[in-house]
Amino acid sequence: MSPMWWQTGTIYQIYPRSFQDSNGDGIGDLEGIRQRLDYLAWLGVDAIWISPVYPSPMHDFGYDVTDYCGIDPIFGSLESFDRLIEEAHQKQLKIILDFVPNHTSIEHPWFKASRRSRADPKRDWYIWRDAAPDGGPPNNWISNFGGSTWAWDAGSGQYYYHAYLAEQPDLNWRTPDVRAAMHEVLRFWLRRGVDGFRVDVIWHLMKDAAFRDNPRNPDWTTDAPEIDRLLQTYSTDQPEVHEVIAGMRLVLEEFDGQVLIGEIYLPVERLVTYYGTNLMGAHLPFNFQLLNAAWTAPHIAELIVRYEGALPQGGWPNWVLSNHDRPRIAARVGPAQARVAAMLLLTLRGTPTLYYGDELGIGHVEIAPDRIRDPWAKREPGLGVGRDPSRTPMQWDASAFAGFSTHEPWLPLTPDYEARNVAVMSKDKTSILCLIRSLLHYRRGHAPLSQGGWHLLSRESDILAYERRNGDDRIVVVLNFTADPQAWSGPLSTKARIALSTYGDRRGDFVGPAVSLRPNEGLLIEQA
Ligand code: GLC
Ligand code: CA
Repeated sequence: MSPMWWQTGTIYQIYPRSFQDSNGDGIGDLEGIRQRLDYLAWLGVDAIWISPVYPSPMHDFGYDVTDYCGIDPIFGSLESFDRLIEEAHQKQLKIILDFVPNHTSIEHPWFKASRRSRADPKRDWYIWRDAAPDGGPPNNWISNFGGSTWAWDAGSGQYYYHAYLAEQPDLNWRTPDVRAAMHEVLRFWLRRGVDGFRVDVIWHLMKDAAFRDNPRNPDWTTDAPEIDRLLQTYSTDQPEVHEVIAGMRLVLEEFDGQVLIGEIYLPVERLVTYYGTNLMGAHLPFNFQLLNAAWTAPHIAELIVRYEGALPQGGWPNWVLSNHDRPRIAARVGPAQARVAAMLLLTLRGTPTLYYGDELGIGHVEIAPDRIRDPWAKREPGLGVGRDPSRTPMQWDASAFAGFSTHEPWLPLTPDYEARNVAVMSKDKTSILCLIRSLLHYRRGHAPLSQGGWHLLSRESDILAYERRNGDDRIVVVLNFTADPQAWSGPLSTKARIALSTYGDRRGDFVGPAVSLRPNEGLLIEQA
């Protein structure tokens, strides 16, 4: 059986507010993405996942939806969406939409009806509970952005549940009409030609039927976000969720090869259950382990081995390095190791997801207090949970506003944007941009990387080495996790040659039995 596009391809995440502004309001939009499709084709990615573009009051920047079947005027219109899909497809690029089924906006007509009265037919589309005997919230659950998950509605005399902001009430997925309505939403976009969905907080969809109190987390410390005070035992990852996901999957099966990706922050053993019974769950339960892994060779070797070992038979792996909710990879490991990380991401077994701007090596961006936009950062200041630093505009050239806009962007550029941009870095063969482009094109042309098996060669203290093999084709990856030179001896043939170094040179060099690595160097070696 030949592999699916979402198995061999690379996904590129676009945060649409920050990719390209086409109308000079300082906010990216769909037309802007369309104008940059040639760049994405040049880079060598296969699919674009676009964070939400639906109509929204933007309390959580689009993750609070008022109409699942529309496009917010900030981003464009259904016409600009259709045009984007059509041109993307002409360029062999797939489009993956962000689907936000766990909660709507407080301004969604469904919620407005639901809160109108206890007798409203939409009342049970959301989660309403009576107050505790003392008038307080129904249980001890804590919102992901801090505070209680329960908001009091004086008009109808009950609390409603919100796992995130009070402006994001959770839908009640136990109500059959909710499922049916949301399935229609999926069909609406599938008919318009989308190639799949990334499903927001999919492990949250079902909550404990009895709403039992969550237990205390004994490991919580005051410098951690409030949500971590409790274990999410009853509020997330309930057994009933798998049936809900299988229901979505069946809708996709009515169509043709579209992919279902789930956002899931859980330990590996729990994560892999989201492939579903008989693999009828998510095709790709996002594997976020690299997002906060300690950056050492033995630790990363260990987590790859554990993940590979935990996958169900036939379950396809995937890897994520950064996203719009977590610090960028270069902010975490520094600019030199960001290249090693890129080689790791693009040579592991399974679908990689690359986050926009990481190909420029954007690192930590300081956000001045008066420019903070993230609601979480505003609600829990001082903990470093702010997500704005990972959402700054894409940097295209050295002009004012980096070619992103003709107007001051909604979030600041990096101070070094005049050097750190696509125009400058695409001309520099030693840039991280050219490295990532080379890796993407190499991966596409070499089946051992896109489909072959993965085999650990070494987990010594400073070096991670593994082999990717497809039939007789073998590629060895050797990564130096340190800032010191290293030597590594492995099972290499005398004819083994370097195909790619993270430094951008040494191509075609024979390596010999002992490989020498420069500080922070990664090598891709072709066995002969
Ligand atoms: C997901 C999104 C995040 C959002 C949250 C609530 O985790 O990635 O950005 O704030 O869901 O929708
Ligand atoms: Ca715009």
